[in-house]
Amino acid sequence: MITSNISIAVNALNQGELVAIPTETVYGLAGSAFNEQAIQKIFHLKNRPTCNPLILHTHCISEVSKFVKEIPPNAMKLAEAFWPGPLTLLLPKKSIIPQSVTSGSHLVAVRIPNHSVTLSLLKQLEFPLVAPSANPYTRISPTNSKMVYDYFGDALPCILEGDICSKGIESTIVGFHENTPIIYRQGAISIDAIEFIAGKSKVQATKKEKVTTPGMSPMHYAPKTKFCIVDSILDFIYENRDLKIGALTIGKLEVNLPNTTNINLSIAADLEEASTNLYKSMYDLDGMGLDCIIIEQFPEIGIGKSLNDRILRASFR
Ligand code: TXA
Ligand code: MG
Repeated sequence: MITSNISIAVNALNQGELVAIPTETVYGLAGSAFNEQAIQKIFHLKNRPTCNPLILHTHCISEVSKFVKEIPPNAMKLAEAFWPGPLTLLLPKKSIIPQSVTSGSHLVAVRIPNHSVTLSLLKQLEFPLVAPSANPYTRISPTNSKMVYDYFGDALPCILEGDICSKGIESTIVGFHENTPIIYRQGAISIDAIEFIAGKSKVQATKKEKVTTPGMSPMHYAPKTKFCIVDSILDFIYENRDLKIGALTIGKLEVNLPNTTNINLSIAADLEEASTNLYKSMYDLDGMGLDCIIIEQFPEIGIGKSLNDRILRASFR
């Protein structure tokens, strides 16, 4: 059921049920962080390995201090600059946070999402929510309620309506070595913006081989259709006239050819707008029975780096 009624979501969560929640990044598949059965339902419904930990969502910094032992000075600076918002901090957990949430790690990932519906929901609950993205494991994260419904149907009792997710890609995950920020996942906040607040950071590289570190799974966010990053969309289409192609473009590039379905992510070539539209457009093309979906690299500036990280992962096979 898709509903705008927050009370229905509150009741479901109080009873240990799962609810899909809108955030500014992507929809989350939420359950009570203090209800072991709800936590297990999340892993089960997503078909996600239990060694891949969950992000804790709450509504204010004073709540966060109930769940973590300390907030290093740079973490506090980032929290004050970006919360509520698409920033996830990795911090040493207090024992109140179940081991199943962190997959045994002493660190818990926490964030305060910036979405009025979900902030209002969180304030009405007596527990924080754990919420991974509301997609089956390795599929594209949903950025609207319909995508969530398509994925889970009535196996998910409640989907809270919150319109399209404005940021459209996941939060930036930041941990700390001593006080230095370590970027574990590039996301909706650019590395430049993190470094402006907290100084020079280190970025954990995305590797093509299988990686076991949580948060660094290389194959993620992938459409079922073959997904390729190409040097030139026009050259690729010209050289592959026998293929049914989906082309994701940006800026003035519009492709009007019989074998190609074109979705433009931002005619103004605005990377924020492209980010909002990326997953939904990948998902829509994925449903069209095409031979492949192609895209050119984004400019490696600001959030373009995060978008490149996502399309690179989607292209791994
Ligand atoms: O924008 C977001 O972060 C969305 C919305 C719903 O908040 N959530 C999200 O969750 O993207 P998920 O589970 O799809 O991705 C979270 C990533 C996972 O790759 C997980 O391994 C990593 O964060 N993670 C969570 N807790 C961690 C921990 N304690 N240590 C290391 N990595 C962690
Ligand atoms: Mg995810």
